[in-house]
Amino acid sequence: MTDKTHIVDEITGHRRMRRNRKADWTRRLVQENRLTVDDLIWPIFLVPGTNISEPIPAMPGVNRMSVDVAVEAVKEAADLGIPAVATFPNIEMDLRDQTGSNILDANNLLNQATAAFKKHVPNIGVITDVALDPFTSHGHDGILRGNEIVNDETVDLVARAAVMQADAGSDIIAPSEMMDGRIGAIRRALDAAGHQNVGIMSYATKFASGCYGPYREAISTGGLLKGDKKSYYIDPANGTEAIRDAALDVEEGADMLMVKPGLPYLDICWRMKEAFGLPVFAYQVSGEYSMIKAAAANGWIDGERMMLETLLCFKRAGCDGILSYFSVEVAKILAKG
Ligand code: PBG
Repeated sequence: MTDKTHIVDEITGHRRMRRNRKADWTRRLVQENRLTVDDLIWPIFLVPGTNISEPIPAMPGVNRMSVDVAVEAVKEAADLGIPAVATFPNIEMDLRDQTGSNILDANNLLNQATAAFKKHVPNIGVITDVALDPFTSHGHDGILRGNEIVNDETVDLVARAAVMQADAGSDIIAPSEMMDGRIGAIRRALDAAGHQNVGIMSYATKFASGCYGPYREAISTGGLLKGDKKSYYIDPANGTEAIRDAALDVEEGADMLMVKPGLPYLDICWRMKEAFGLPVFAYQVSGEYSMIKAAAANGWIDGERMMLETLLCFKRAGCDGILSYFSVEVAKILAKG
């Protein structure tokens, strides 16, 4: 019989969860999810010029790079086994205008980088965004007319930009601007231009989040943004609406889906995977990165441990991979085994 001072009954005795946790070897045997280098997509920031690598104060450890420097960094990422990079340009202010017209320059910074990566590092995937925010003078993702971000005109423009990005060598178009109908329009435009093999990773559920601040510093849109993006990004309160939005993207031909931001939205990752079965990626965005870095810098948390834990949790939540600024750092750790 059980000692009265230890109230563990016979049934509990048969069901001791701790037996599988008792040693490192049992824990390894029963581990359900694993993070590998194959799960990582590395977002990088580009600047014009050569031989430039400049720190972004709000993102310690992340630098904006000119294309030549980025080529070397992307080579290193490929050597570490990282499957793909996602590029974001910080273009000159005088190239930014009301309609983001520089996105339609075949030789813009983004397309130059894509072409350089494809030439010098052919074994890594290049994922490019078609949102207008790096190119507009107002920091919005679409064309601003009066007080409105006009949907259909923006969709026409991003579909044309997608073709130019594919022409430059982009492997996957990842439209993040959340306009209605964009996935179908981009698919049709790519196919019409002979880019049947270029995929679309939809930022299917992009939330109007407070987590994007450091990114806006990185591409210098923070000071430009007039108002907010609530008329096109999803309300953080809405999960069912997010799934409906993603369903349209699936119908329109998305090959992969993305949830953004990541950690506060793990329920959405899970629901998306369950609902569609398509590959689902989480974007661990700049604010998530910076929160971990800042707390670690203060000695409040173990930064490396939190980096690995958060990335693993995306796997548990059903994600096939993660866009993370930690990618290179974590790939180096994983390589050590
Ligand atoms: C906008 C865009 C955003 C991010 C990438 N593209 C959000 C925004 O500025 O509103 C955020 C990425 C990050 O925070 O890491 N198209």
